[in-house]
Parts: sequence; C-alpha cells; structure tokens
Amino acid sequence: MDIICTTSQKPTDSMIQSAITHSKYFKGEYIPRKRLGSLSERECVLVVTKSSLNVYIKGQKLAFHPSMAMLRVKRIKNGELDIFNKILGDITSWAVLDCTLGLASDSLVLSKLVSCKGQVTSLEKSKLIYKIVKDGLGKLDSSYPELSGLSKNITLKNVDFNNYIEGLNYGDFDLIYFDPMFDKPIENSPAISPLRDLAHYSPLSIKSLEKAKKLAKKAVIVKNNKNFPFEEIGLKKFTLPSSSVSYGIYLNKEE
Ligand SMILES: C[S@@+](CC[C@H](N)C(=O)[O-])C[C@H]1O[C@@H](n2cnc3c(N)ncnc32)[C@H](O)[C@@H]1O
Repeated sequence: MDIICTTSQKPTDSMIQSAITHSKYFKGEYIPRKRLGSLSERECVLVVTKSSLNVYIKGQKLAFHPSMAMLRVKRIKNGELDIFNKILGDITSWAVLDCTLGLASDSLVLSKLVSCKGQVTSLEKSKLIYKIVKDGLGKLDSSYPELSGLSKNITLKNVDFNNYIEGLNYGDFDLIYFDPMFDKPIENSPAISPLRDLAHYSPLSIKSLEKAKKLAKKAVIVKNNKNFPFEEIGLKKFTLPSSSVSYGIYLNKEE
C-alpha cells in the first residue's frame, strides 16, 4: 500500500520534518497539506498533527485512544477484578508477552496489573499501527493522566510474533497472550473497527501456540469469539456470561 505523509493545516517546521522522516521510513511520499486536498479521497495518509499521529485509511480515521484501557483501569482502581485476574488471580510482578498490541488496551491493563514490579513486552506486525501506538504511548502521561506511568514498563517491538517466539527461552515470560484478529469480526466493536484495514490477519498457528505453551512459565491465553473451538487446540474455554468473546487458557502445571 502506498502511504502519503503530510501534516495538519498550518504546520510548524518540526511537524513538516517529522512528516518527511515518516515518508522515508514508510517508503512513501511527503505531500504538503495545502497540496493534498481531501484526505478521505486518498487510500492511506499519515498525518502529523501537533499532538498525535493519525492515519486516514479509505476515509476512516485511526488515532491512538486508550478508551477501553481507561475504563478497565478505573474499574481496577475501584476494586473490581479485570478479566486477567478472573482467569489468573494476582499477577503482580509477572513478565508478560502481549503478542498482539493493536491499540494497546490489553497491554496497558496488563501493565497496571503486573505493576512496576513486573514488565510487559508487546508485539505488533503492522508498521503503521506500531508507529501510531508508540507515539500515543510516548505521550500518555501528559494526554491521559489517569493512565500515568503505565507505558513506562511496556516495551514495544515491531515484529511478527511467530518469529519473536522462536528466539525465546523457557521462563522468559510468565504469561504469553494472543488476541489475533477474529475470522468473524464482532460488529459492535467500534474500538477495533478502524484498525481492520491496517491489521495483520494471519491466524495463530498451532506451531506458535505449542511453542508458547512450552515457553510460558505460568500461562498462555488466547482471545477469540465464543464459537472458536478452544478445546480442539488444547485450551480450556473461559467465558464471562455477559461477554461476546471467550478466552482459551493453558496453565503450565510445572509451576
Ligand atoms: C485484535 S487486535 C489486538 C487488540 C489488542 N489486544 C488491544 O487491546 O487493543 C490484533 C493485533 O495484532 C496484530 N497482529 C496480527 N498478527 C500478528 C503477528 N503475527 N505478529 C504481531 N502482531 C500481529 C494485528 O495487526 C492487530 O493490530
């Protein structure tokens, strides 16, 4: 896909420089905003604004916004159990590998749950999603004080989880988590909808899942829709009554 890089209207010199740098990184083209016309008529445009990086893809805007994470972190602060605690109990100080960063809601919640004693490593294959989220997480403390400090112990990597897992040793991570794009999207999932045109869709392979089961010190979790045959791939299904998604769980009995 050809990527055009530009700025918002009335850019500063540093915004123009940033758009040029991004155009080189994405092997795309820098076009000054005043020459570009309507963003919705272009297939894919990266826009450098004063406060963020935004992508317009086929007329839809994708920007970093941790809305779901804010809600979940607020509930945790109010003493409610997050889904990861319902499945695993207390995970303070765990080392977590989030194989599918997306818009980082799960990574931020996991960062809150493991606390500063733990660590989250998050992988994203899409270059554009990675860039937008890396930029957003870098500005998290000033833009979203409710989530202040949570990006500090998240390490981001722009890699394919299948390759990354190959280089791991047993015990590098306590939890390995996968939330790949669903074959059948859940229509009422607005947070994920603009992500769909940019995301990678390769399903989680049995090879990578089996490798993860051997590597994770404590658990592997896979998220998918309710009809996904978790049992057929050796995972125990966990569904909250009110939820449209399910989780497949593998607990490492050696621990
Ligand atoms: C459903 S989204 C994850 C949402 C995320 N859990 C959140 O809370 O925002 C799936 C993400 O995984 C990425 N992805 C898919 N296959 C991947 C792979 N093999 N390696 C790394 N990332 C991958 C997609 O590009 C997409 O951004």
